[in-house]
Amino acid sequence: MAHFTKATSIEDWLNQRLAVRTLRRVLAEEYWIPKDINFLWAMGMILAVTFGFLLISGIFLLMYYKPDTALAFDSVNYTIMQEVGYGWLFRHIHGVAASVVFLLIYIHMFTGIYYGSYKQGREMIWISGMLLFVTFSAEAFSGYMLPWGQMSYWAGMVITNLFSLGSLDLNGLVEWIRGDYVPGDAFLTRFFMLHVLLMPLIIIGIIVLHFGTLRIPHVNNQEGAEIDFDAEAEKYLKGDTKNAKVIRFQWDFLSKDFMVMAFFLTFFFYLVFYHFEFAMDPVNFDPADGLKTPPHIYPEWYFLWSYEILRPFSKNIGLLAFGFAQVIFVLLPFLDRSPNAKPAHKRGIFFVWFWILLIDMIVLSVMGKVPPSGIFSQIGLVAALTFIGLWIALPFITMFEKKA
Ligand code: HEM
Repeated sequence: MAHFTKATSIEDWLNQRLAVRTLRRVLAEEYWIPKDINFLWAMGMILAVTFGFLLISGIFLLMYYKPDTALAFDSVNYTIMQEVGYGWLFRHIHGVAASVVFLLIYIHMFTGIYYGSYKQGREMIWISGMLLFVTFSAEAFSGYMLPWGQMSYWAGMVITNLFSLGSLDLNGLVEWIRGDYVPGDAFLTRFFMLHVLLMPLIIIGIIVLHFGTLRIPHVNNQEGAEIDFDAEAEKYLKGDTKNAKVIRFQWDFLSKDFMVMAFFLTFFFYLVFYHFEFAMDPVNFDPADGLKTPPHIYPEWYFLWSYEILRPFSKNIGLLAFGFAQVIFVLLPFLDRSPNAKPAHKRGIFFVWFWILLIDMIVLSVMGKVPPSGIFSQIGLVAALTFIGLWIALPFITMFEKKA
């Protein structure tokens, strides 16, 4: 039997039973982070905090929301917004966080691409990150159904129609997903279940996995330098913190994160109080009506680029292009054939590839919002073809890259 001495503090008591000190040492105090990083490395923790905002505000909204097609719209737009004390605040926090979380995810992803942080043992960080992207997309889509406004209904109709898989005409599958011929009560309650239970559970599990994947390869740094973490940690622990190339996660790295987070929180609450409308589509303030199709149906801004890859082509080709856009990012660590985990500006043609990809996705997003006619549909087509071409070219342009 274990030998217990009298505990001198709560921490001591917990340590004797749960080894909390060892846990803190392994996960925080002696978890080493390279010194050579910039503010972009704070995005991960800011994402975790924004996810926390989504969970807390979501729990408050859940107390008053009614998952019933006859009641849902009023429970959001009347009960929560006007009757419940501070209901408007929780709705604005939830809506703004849902939009901002995608802005952060895109910044975090493109930081990873720029610095090659998906290489040299970091493949699982990237793959678990992409799983988070997919699950956050499902979470955002299912949440968008819940206010049961015109855009909820018609976006739900358009997206579930994709499961008929073009000319295969799998209408039985579409009806099975909806639980009806058109979106209705069964549709709303199952998307409600996905949004408040299943997807958040899966997301929490994958966030734990994502954090776990960081522990062994450690995060990358601005120069992509390979660091001997054991040797550098030893230097640090011996007191040579000036020359050591690493810092502790707790509190060295976290204090840098808090600084960036302070700027982020100012920006976030400015949006919540003064510009929440950017996260809410005016069309969705009309209740769902299955007999009145809106003249122009489009998704939220963060899905526009992939929506625009679907639109300019015929039904079947569009679906294939859309499927391609969904999976191709996951394969990045295997399509980039260069061994260099260097920043893009030290990788020649890859630097050009990176900026064309980023600008192309912005063009696709803008074109996804405007009606697909005239010059807009031509620009959309060129941008969609550019996107596909860039990914096909990637293995070839990186294969011949010289080792930096
Ligand atoms: C809510 C979602 C996410 C959370 C909470 C999260 C959290 C984190 C944290 C805390 C870090 C370490 C610090 C940093 O580099 O910022 C990190 C690193 C990383 N994440 Fe995420 N992440 C999320 C989504 C994603 C997504 C969508 C991707 C894209 C595939 C991704 C890819 C990466 C990569 C490649 C790194 C390593 C960066 C490096 O080594 O320099 N993450 N993440």
